[in-house]
Parts: sequence; C-alpha cells; structure tokens
Amino acid sequence: MTKRILTGLKPTGEQLHIGNYFGAIKPFIDLTHTEKDAEFFLFLANMHGFTQLHDPKTLKEYSLTILKLYLAIGINPNKVFIYNPAEIPAHAQLNRVLSCLTIMGTMERMHSYKDALAKGKAGELSVGTFNYPVLMAADILLYDADLVPVGQDQKQHVEYARDIAEKFNRQYGETFKVPHPLINREVATITGLDGRKMSKSYNNYIGLLDDEKTLLKKVKQIATDTKTVEESKNPDECNVYKIGKLFLTPEEDQARRKKYLAGGLSYKEAKEYTFEKMRNYLAPIQKKYHAISDEEVIHMLAKNTSHIQEIAQKKITEVYKKIGFTLS
Ligand code: ADP
Ligand code: TRP
Repeated sequence: MTKRILTGLKPTGEQLHIGNYFGAIKPFIDLTHTEKDAEFFLFLANMHGFTQLHDPKTLKEYSLTILKLYLAIGINPNKVFIYNPAEIPAHAQLNRVLSCLTIMGTMERMHSYKDALAKGKAGELSVGTFNYPVLMAADILLYDADLVPVGQDQKQHVEYARDIAEKFNRQYGETFKVPHPLINREVATITGLDGRKMSKSYNNYIGLLDDEKTLLKKVKQIATDTKTVEESKNPDECNVYKIGKLFLTPEEDQARRKKYLAGGLSYKEAKEYTFEKMRNYLAPIQKKYHAISDEEVIHMLAKNTSHIQEIAQKKITEVYKKIGFTLS
C-alpha cells in the first residue's frame, strides 16, 4: 500500500506563526518533495479549533486564512489532498467509538490536561478539550496514515493514537495502521521572542503575515543578554541567532555562527541581519497569500471531499461491522 503522510493545523488564530510553519508544516512540505510515491493528506482542524473558538464568523475567517496559507507557503494542491473534516461524518463517528474504548486516566495523563490542572483550570475545560486527542486519533486512523509530521508538543497525542489503534486491532482484529509521529529534531521547538517556546498563547510570535513594520518591531523585541559588542557569543544560547537561522541557507548559517563566536558582533547588527533575511523569506509568501480568494480555497476543498469521504466511509463501515453496530 502506498505510504500515507497526514497532518492538520487548528485555525485558532488570525494567522500562523513561524513556530507552526517551521515546526509542523514545513517538514510536511519537504516530504512532498522527497517522498515521491507517498500520498499526502492535509486538513483544516476546525473541529479541534472549535474547542476554543465559538464565534462562527471568527471560526470561518480563521479557517479560510489557514487554507490560504497552506497554498501560499507552497503546498501543491495537485499533490496533496486538502480537506475539511467537518464535512466528513466519519471523523465524529470514529471519535465516538474510540472515546468508548479510552479510559479517563489516559486523557488525564495528557500534557494539555495536566497543564490545565496545574493552573487550577481543569474544571473549566470543555469535555471536547479534555478528549481532544481522541478526535485527533480518529483523524489519523481513518486514513491509515503511516507518518504524522507534528511539533514536539503533539507527540503524546500521536502516541495515544498508536496505542488506541493497537488496542482496537487486538480486540477486533487488524483494522488500523499504527501511525508514527514524525518530529524533526532541529525544529522541534522554535524559540519565541522572549526565549520561551513560540506560541500564540504567550504572544511571543512572529507571524507569517506580519507586515514589515510589525516584523521590525518584533525583531527589536527579541530578548538578549548583556554581552558587550566585543565579547564572543555562543550562537546556541542566543535568541536572535536561534530565530534568525531558520531563514538562512546552510552556508549563510555557518558564516553567521563564526561571526557570533568571533566577537565584534553587536545585537543591533545581528537583529538587522535577521530582519532582512526574515522579510525576504516572508515577502513572497505574503504576496501569494493576498492573491488567493476565498472562492479558490472553497472550490479546492469541494473538489477533494468525495475522494476523502470515500476513504473515510470505507474505514468507518469496517469499524461499525466489527464492533457490532451494523446489524445486517
Ligand atoms: P500555539 O502554541 O501557537 O497555539 P498550536 O498549538 O496551534 O500552536 O500548534 C500547531 C502546530 O504547530 C503543532 O503541530 C505544534 O506542534 C506546532 N508548533 C507550535 N508552536 C511550535 C513551536 N514553537 N515550535 C515548533 N512547533 C510548534
Ligand atoms: N492537534 C493539532 C494542532 O495542534 C492539530 C491536529 C488535529 C492534528 N488532528 C490532527 C495534527 C491529526 C496531526 C494529526 O494543531
């Protein structure tokens, strides 16, 4: 069977940031170039986004943004199936089945739940947020995905998808492919402006759609230590370097590292260089983004729905038969 590579992103913000891009989606794009024979699935995780976004207008707006960004960053819609799981009933159906085979304790061990617990907010979580990983497992298992490229923070969720697939297969016979998370170590956790993990929730991000003025302002905000210009600087401990290197070729990166180590590099110059590289990298993405219409992405989704629906329906039909839902 052809290898299947699948991932999705939640439309929970006005745009994507470079942490989402380099951590989750760029590794996926790279695979579309190297894995010539694989099939690629990329979805809009709007059913996941709904855990946070209850205003329909905003949810729609953010969903369209993410879809346009998929195209603007170079996903080839002729090579990748881009789709909307909310249009495919099997996602919710498999979610139901897997929820009943998953014990509460498994969800209580998830980082996201533990974080909410630590903040004293567990009681305020919606049930949909609590069992978010179950829906994620349904997204993956419906399509017999082999590889799931994600950022480090999603690893535990994909591991749960593996466990529940194995459990189902043991109990009801071979049904699901056991997926593997694919985490690119180099970009597992992209650093934010303040040195913490880049995240929407910390507001420490650089957005793919940030305009020049905003980019400049944000680059100026990148936290640095108090080393003098003359002092040698360890690039691996410098936030400006860590963010800036994402936009460099390997050769440029080597040259930069030498500059940091040699001493004589001011943070002002380091930031100016980073700003230039970042702007040049993001400008064509932004140009492409603004040229894509809502209709174009809506049409693209509609084109894929029946093919995706067929794959998902086949799997859920098999599951329903095996668990005794189907009576004929
Ligand atoms: P955020 O933390 O900004 O809310 P999401 O949780 O929506 O981001 O993450 C979407 C995807 O991007 C996930 O696969 C996640 O692992 C990846 N991702 C998010 N932030 C980073 C980061 N700083 N470094 C690497 N990957 C990231
Ligand atoms: N949880 C992922 C995120 O944070 C989105 C997602 C939903 C996903 N279902 C998935 C990723 C299945 C990979 C596979 O953005």
